[in-house]
Amino acid sequence: MKPDARDINLDPFFKSEPKSVKDIGVDSRPDLLNIEEIIARRRALIEARLANLIPKENIWPANLHAAQRHALLSPGKRLRPLLSVFIAEGLGYSSEANINIGINVGCTAEIVHAASLILDDLPCMDNADLRRGQATTHIAFDESTAILSATALLNRAFGVLAELKGVEPEIQIRLIRRLSDCVGSKGLIAGQVADLSNTDTSASLAEIERLNALKTGALFDFSIESAALLANASETQTAALKDFSYSLGLAFQLMDDVKDQVMSEHHAEKTVGRDIGKATILALSGSDATLKHLRQYLTSAKQALSRAELSNTPILNSVLEAQFRFLSL
Ligand code: IPE
Ligand code: IPE
Ligand code: MG
Ligand code: MG
Ligand code: MG
Repeated sequence: MKPDARDINLDPFFKSEPKSVKDIGVDSRPDLLNIEEIIARRRALIEARLANLIPKENIWPANLHAAQRHALLSPGKRLRPLLSVFIAEGLGYSSEANINIGINVGCTAEIVHAASLILDDLPCMDNADLRRGQATTHIAFDESTAILSATALLNRAFGVLAELKGVEPEIQIRLIRRLSDCVGSKGLIAGQVADLSNTDTSASLAEIERLNALKTGALFDFSIESAALLANASETQTAALKDFSYSLGLAFQLMDDVKDQVMSEHHAEKTVGRDIGKATILALSGSDATLKHLRQYLTSAKQALSRAELSNTPILNSVLEAQFRFLSL
């Protein structure tokens, strides 16, 4: 029997009515304004860099480049590059030149993320027509352009890593390998494969966590480990950051599954209700257990982050809190 998430009581999730995902992105509590300004400045640098890392729409083949820009430059939260950039900085990789390199590396995670979303939205996968408040790439263009633009973006991410200047060749090669492993057929792609046939109601928590750790966690792993590699983090710090990434990946995908159920399309700014019939933690265990798991994942993530002893932990905590604020955790 397929689980039906429509039967789930959703009331426990709401702290207050979420207005839009844009509201989720910024914390305006007065004591955090300074931190929010720092985050906004980094986000602006990331946006500008993303726009420069892929070809302009007037370059032939213009339609393909327009599709890539449509997918990549639409208003995403930029969580993966923000994590990467702030972790590298918090590890001391913080000269102007190094921040510049860190932004390029963080952007490669966002470029891969955009490619994965184009594919995820295709009719043969989640069949979604809305993403980040806009038509999905295959709707705004067509399916073949969407598939080719995703492939081109994925390819470009490796090009960006190969073009890095000011990074030791050995580190550069390790970055390229990590991206390949995290995205490949034992990483994000394996997670997507598992997700597409994920209807087994007898799935255990461990099996669902494994799926989420691959589908979503693997790209967090790259975003976070790439920062540790760039900054030459100690073994202890690298181990703590791996734990951080694992727990955050689980928390983030479970939170996304909740969004799929509780948010309207208007508020989520993407097609929702696509997880009906899927064996998610929410569908199999209900709202209360989901909130319990979310709290545990987030607590573990924060504890691991604190063990990493970064110089800017409050900034990273603020980036995280903004993602989960709409939930009553
Ligand atoms: C959505 O990711 C897909 C998942 C892996 C859950 P985000 O929620 O980070 O999407 P954007 O980038 O902000 O649009
Ligand atoms: C997408 O997961 C994960 C990847 C693209 C690898 P979802 O299918 O849950 O993401 P949304 O809900 O469409 O953003
Ligand atoms: Mg999907
Ligand atoms: Mg989807
Ligand atoms: Mg989802």
